Amino acid sequence: MARFPLLKALIFPVCLIPLARLGWYGYTDQLGANPIEFVTRSTGTWTLIFLLVTLCVTPLRKISGWQALIKLRRMLGLFAFFYASLHFATYIWLDQFFDLQSIYKDVFKRPFITIGFIGFMMLIPLALTSTNAMIKRLGGKRWRRLHQLVYFIAICAVVHYWWLVKKDITQPAIYAGALAVLLGYRLMAMLPKSGALLSKI
Ligand code: HEM
Repeated sequence: MARFPLLKALIFPVCLIPLARLGWYGYTDQLGANPIEFVTRSTGTWTLIFLLVTLCVTPLRKISGWQALIKLRRMLGLFAFFYASLHFATYIWLDQFFDLQSIYKDVFKRPFITIGFIGFMMLIPLALTSTNAMIKRLGGKRWRRLHQLVYFIAICAVVHYWWLVKKDITQPAIYAGALAVLLGYRLMAMLPKSGALLSKI
């Protein structure tokens, strides 16, 4: 337990590497021919990665028995929200120039934007209720039920990626496979017999 703050302090700067990389690429003019697309795609990819990494915490904790891992979950989840906010801000600011009419049309007419938007909107209450004070205020049971939304958000995120890809679906399929394993683990854990087995392995 005592070593844990050190681990958290080590992982925090690692989580900032994708942002630092973008900043460095911008500074050294390495964002390619379409910098807005580069930034949108990079922040979108890192949102998805952080969502999946956050979902890895509980299975890893159960498999390894390292209970303190749970304390990383909130930080990782907030990093998912951080990169999602950058992704959304890039879209509304650099891509759409705050043209609310065009954003409105996009959100209602392009299915991949619709599902991404739904995912992002649902991340907001999770980020807002991530503090200890909010857990107390909502009560553990209600808080846990609200935070189960993360499963639906992760599905929205994978579908968002799948729908925007035009030809080669390899990448979204890899993320979908990883998510299927993570959700499958939880479903299995809910079954009485396999739940007992999963807590042992
Ligand atoms: C949970 C929320 C979200 C996640 C996890 C997410 C994830 C992603 C991913 C993985 C990509 C593709 C990256 C690549 O091509 O390598 C992407 C692209 C994109 N996303 Fe999102 N996204 C989210 C929310 C949103 C929202 C709210 C919007 C806008 C309203 C949005 C707009 C876009 C756009 C415009 C692209 C680029 C499409 C293209 O270049 O063809 N995303 N997103």
